[in-house]
Formats: sequence, structure tokens, C-alpha cells
Amino acid sequence: MDPLDMVVVGGCGHVGLPLALSLADCGYRVGIDDIDAAKVDQVKAGNVPFLENGAEALLKDLLPSGRLQLASDPSMIERTNTVILVIGTPIDEFMNPSVRIFDKVVDDLVPHLKKGSLIVLRSTVFPGTTESVERRLRAAGVEAEVVFCPERIAEGHALEELRTLPQLVGASSDGAFEKASLLFERLGVAVVRTTPVEAELAKLLTNTWRYMKFAIANQFFQIAHRSGVDYNRVLDAIRHDYPRAQDLPGPGFAAGPCLLKDTMQLSAFTPDHFPMGQAAMQINEGLPNYIVDTLNSRRPLQGRTVGILGMAFKGESDDPRASLSYKLRKLAAFKGARVMCTDPFIDDPTFEPLEKVLSEADVLVVAAPHRAYRKLALDGREVVDIWGMTGPIRL
Ligand SMILES: NC(=O)c1ccc[n+]([C@@H]2O[C@H](COP(=O)([O-])OP(=O)(O)OC[C@H]3O[C@@H](n4cnc5c(N)ncnc54)[C@H](O)[C@@H]3O)[C@@H](O)[C@H]2O)c1
Repeated sequence: MDPLDMVVVGGCGHVGLPLALSLADCGYRVGIDDIDAAKVDQVKAGNVPFLENGAEALLKDLLPSGRLQLASDPSMIERTNTVILVIGTPIDEFMNPSVRIFDKVVDDLVPHLKKGSLIVLRSTVFPGTTESVERRLRAAGVEAEVVFCPERIAEGHALEELRTLPQLVGASSDGAFEKASLLFERLGVAVVRTTPVEAELAKLLTNTWRYMKFAIANQFFQIAHRSGVDYNRVLDAIRHDYPRAQDLPGPGFAAGPCLLKDTMQLSAFTPDHFPMGQAAMQINEGLPNYIVDTLNSRRPLQGRTVGILGMAFKGESDDPRASLSYKLRKLAAFKGARVMCTDPFIDDPTFEPLEKVLSEADVLVVAAPHRAYRKLALDGREVVDIWGMTGPIRL
């Protein structure tokens, strides 16, 4: 079998696939190993399993080049000296990071790893994981160097951001740093050297910072709303020609597969459980409750029809993971409402076409800020639009 410059393990995922495509686009021969054989077949056939700007066109260009090879078989890594791990890193039912997932994957790779390999961890991990993986490999008799090179893209913008965002390289030796830097320099990005644990923390802090900005925006909105003040006017006043407040986000659902999970990882890492992070989680996760409680106290939802526009976790995305729209659906149904959901990007047999939701719902909630909702005429009924997509922020 031909040698490969690198194998991306978890290479059909939201992070792994755009990375594999970008590396192959730079001329590398890239292997993709993914445990999900159905997804591997889908990608082999030229279809990207999720929405990612430009990815499907690039995949179709690259497949005939032979620089992209796919398998659902870890023995593929026998063909390379560089393994990039991008599997999911969820939190468990007790809100603790599931570090054992990494142990398991590493154990599965051990029989196939070549001596002197470079292992690049790219998943977001609990601080200390890189060192722990290195120890585990050593204990299994594998001589390999492990670096942590976090992914910092925003879903949907991966191909562009992989070639523009500086790459953090957390390495514990000069040799490992050199090898990892060479790999990313071909993408044309600057490289920033740190230790592994510095890079692990930097990634968690980056996501937590973003999550907390959304939390303060949501809390400000609730403070104004509760006191009967129009938040649109307050926000306009704050931002008007005042550069230091331009980065205050508007309110909205802060959700998705990363921000909450990474704030939780940081909370599990700190001995005091990170009270500010806990507060941010309470506020962001509590926003659907605030909406449903407000609607229900204004007029009981029992017997009414609530239409939820947008089930993805963010605008122009087909990713429903950890979306707060589902929490909103559950809470409204619990109050006795009939709930209708719609989303132009997600195929779900329980969803309804937008026109049907618009014609049957008594209350409409814009839950994901898809562009398609921007021009909807929703007047003449109760509307919740905390994003301000269809006009001013409304609740
Ligand atoms: N989604 C994002 O925007 C984003 C951004 C930055 C970082 N991250 C981090 O990247 C990591 C991956 O996230 P994702 O959104 O790509 O997840 P994902 O679920 O979309 O992708 C993970 C892939 O790994 C595969 N996989 C799981 N176990 C495997 C194994 N043992 N062998 C081979 N393949 C395996 C899965 O089938 C899946 O295709 C997470 O740690 C996440 O926190 C995600």
C-alpha cells in the first residue's frame, strides 16, 4: 500500500473532514479513518455528511487525485508516521469529561503505530490529556511523540479559517514542535508554540470566553426585559458610536457541540468549579425556560400551538447537536402546547414545512437565526425573536 503523509482518525467528522480536505488540497497524501463506515462510504461517493461552505466541491475535486484515501479501519495508520486524532470528546451524564474515550482510541491504535510517530491531538481535551496519552503509549511500549494542536474554527467557515487562523502547537520537545509546525505551515498559517497543557487550556479558555460573552448578553437582555424596558433601545444606546461596547453581542441561544461542553470541562478542571462559568451555563441554558415562562405567564400555553423556526444550534447550519431549540420544544410541550418545528437545513420526519407552521401556530419563536427568516412577515400574532432577525428583538 502507498505511504500516506498523515492519517486523520475521526476524519469524517465536522472538524476532521475539512482538515483532511485542506491538507490534501496543499498536496499531502491524506488518509481518513473513521469508525462510522456509512459516513466513510458517503464521503467516498463525494458527499459531505454536513453543511460546510465549499467542502463538497473541494471533496469532488480531490477524490480523482488519489490524494485522499478513506477507510473504516485503524490499520490504515500503518501507512504513515503522522496520526491526527479528531474524535469527539463529550462530557458524561455527570457533566465530567469522558477522558476514557481517548484511552480507548489510543489503545486501538497502539498495534498499528510506527516507531517514532507523531501523534497530533486535535480534539478539545481536558487539560493534561496530551501528557496522559504520551504516558499511555510509553507504557504500551510505543515510542511516539504527542502534541496538542487545537482546532479553533467555527463550523461552516472551516476551509477559510484553517488557512487564516494561527495554529497553536503545544509540544514538549523541540523535535515534536518542528514536525508539527511543518505540517501546518503548508496551510500558510502562523504557528504559536506553547507547552501541551498551555495549548489545552488556551483552547478551553477561548471557547469559554465566547460562551461567557453570550451569557452576559443574555443576562443583560433579561434584566431589561424583566423591568419592562425595551432592550433594543438600550442596546442601540450602548453601542452608538462607542467603540468599547461594539463587541457586546445581542441576545440569542448559545448552544452547539462545543461552548457549553468546554465550559463544563474547565469547570471540572478547577478546584472551585469555576463559579463564573457555572453562572454562564445557568443563564444560557436557562434562556428557553425564560422564554417559555414569559409566554405562559402572559397567556397559558395549554392548548395553544407554538411554532419553532430553526432547530439547528446556529444560523445557516444543519447541526442540531446540543441545540437549545429542542429544549424549547420540550418545555413548551410540557406546558401543554402543541409544538410544531421547522428547519430548512435539517431533515427530520417530525418537522413541518415552514408555510404550515406559519399558518397554524398561534405563537412563533425564531429559535435559530437562519437568513430565510429575515424577511418573514410575522405581524398579527405573538412572536418571540430574541435574535432580532425579523425586526427588533421581541419577547
Ligand atoms: N464542531 C466544531 O465546530 C469544533 C470546533 C473546534 C473543536 N472541536 C472539537 O473537535 C472534536 C471533534 O468534534 P466534531 O464536531 O468533529 O465531532 P464529530 O462527531 O462531528 O466527529 C467525530 C468523528 O470521529 C469519528 N470517530 C469516533 N470514534 C472514532 C474512532 N475510535 N476511530 C475513528 N473514528 C472515530 C466519528 O464517527 C465522527 O465522524 C471535539 O473534541 C470537539 O470539541 C469541534
